[in-house]
Amino acid sequence: MARKILVTGAAGFIGSNFVHYLVANTDDVVTVLDKFTYAGNEASLTGLPENRVTVVRGDICDAEVVDRLVADSDVVVHYAAESHNDNSLHDPRPFLDTNIIGTYTLLEAVRRHGKRYHHISTDEVYGDLELDDPNRFTEATPYNPSSPYSSTKAGSDMLVRAWVRSFGVQATISNCSNNYGPRQHVEKFIPRQITNILVGERPKLYGEGLNVRDWIHADDHSSAVLRIVEAGRIGETYLIGADGEKNNKEVLELILTGMGQPADAYDHVVDRPGHDLRYAIDSTKLRTELGWQPSFPDFEKGLAATIDWYRENEAWWQPQKAATEAKYKEQGQ
Ligand code: NAD
Ligand code: TYD
Repeated sequence: MARKILVTGAAGFIGSNFVHYLVANTDDVVTVLDKFTYAGNEASLTGLPENRVTVVRGDICDAEVVDRLVADSDVVVHYAAESHNDNSLHDPRPFLDTNIIGTYTLLEAVRRHGKRYHHISTDEVYGDLELDDPNRFTEATPYNPSSPYSSTKAGSDMLVRAWVRSFGVQATISNCSNNYGPRQHVEKFIPRQITNILVGERPKLYGEGLNVRDWIHADDHSSAVLRIVEAGRIGETYLIGADGEKNNKEVLELILTGMGQPADAYDHVVDRPGHDLRYAIDSTKLRTELGWQPSFPDFEKGLAATIDWYRENEAWWQPQKAATEAKYKEQGQ
C-alpha cells in the first residue's frame, strides 16, 4: 500500500532529490513542508505529479502546521535545516532555531501521533580526522562538532536519541558525508566553482585546499535513506558514505579540466575559521545489515553529469548567483 510521507526541507538540495527519487521508485504519496528560505527553490520541485506531491509552505518551528501534517502522515523524513557552515559562522541564530527548535517541534508531533520518524544528519557531528589517520568515522565515534552548523546538527541528533529512549519514539538517524549532484545551492563548494567558470569568474579555493571531503551522489544518499526507512532498526544510527574521499584541490582541478580550463586557473582565498580537515565514513553497518550499495561509485563520472546539469539549467541557479558571490566577497572569500 502507498505510504504517506512527510518530507521536510524538500525545496532544498538533498530533500528535493529524495522526493524525485521517491516518485520514480515507489508508489508513495508525498507532502513537502518547506519554509522556502534563501535555500529553497520552487524550481527544484517542478515536473512532479500533482496527484502524488503536495507542497506546503511553512516553518518546522510552527507547532500547529507541523502537528496537522504529522497527524496526516505515516512517516516523517526530516531534511529541513540551515545547512551551510560559512553562514553559521556569520549568523548562528537561525541554525539554533531551525536545527534545534525545529527538530524538537517535529519530535513532539511524532511522539503525540505515534508516527515513524527518520532524522537526516551529517558526518560533521563527529568533528574531523587527521589526513593520515587510518580510521574513518563509525557509528561508535564520539561526537565532537566544530562549527555552529555541526553543533546544532549534533544537538538535534541528541534530541532524537533522547526522544527514542525517554518516550519510545520510533526513530532512526542517518549521518551522511558530503553530497554532490543536481539542484545544490551555488553557495556550496562544487556548484560554486562550476557556476563561477560558467559566468567567467575564477573558482575560489579556501587555504591550500588540502581538506578532504568524502563525496557521495545525492541519489545514493536517497536510496540509503529509503532503505533505512523501510528496514532500519528503531533507535539505530546508520552512517552513509560511498568511499569518495578527495581533497578540495583535486576536486577543483577535476572541475576545471572537465570544463576545458587550465587546472590552475583558480584563486586561493582566505581560509574558513575552524575549517575541519578531513571527513571519512565507514558505512559497513549500512552495507552489511541493510544490504545497501552505492549506484554512483565513480565520482568523476558523477561530477561530469553534475557539470552538464549546471550547464543545462542556468535558469535554476542564475537568480541566486550574484547575491551569493556578493556575500562571499564581503567575507574575503
Ligand atoms: P539546503 O540548504 O539545500 O536545503 C534546506 C531546505 O530546508 C531549504 O529548502 C529550506 O527552505 C528549508 N528550511 C530551512 N529552514 C526551514 C524551516 N525552519 N522550516 C521549513 N523548512 C526550512 O540543505 P541540504 O544540503 O539539502 O541539506 C538537507 C539536510 O541534509 C540537512 O539536514 C543537512 O544537515 C543534511 N546533510 C547535508 C549534506 C550535504 O552535503 N549538503 C550532507 C549530509 C547531511
Ligand atoms: P562546503 O560545500 O561548504 O561543505 P562542508 O563545509 O559542509 O564540507 O565545502 C566543502 C569544502 O570546500 C570545505 O572544505 C570548504 C571548501 N570550500 C572552498 O574551498 N571554496 C569555496 O568556495 C567553498 C564554498 C568551500
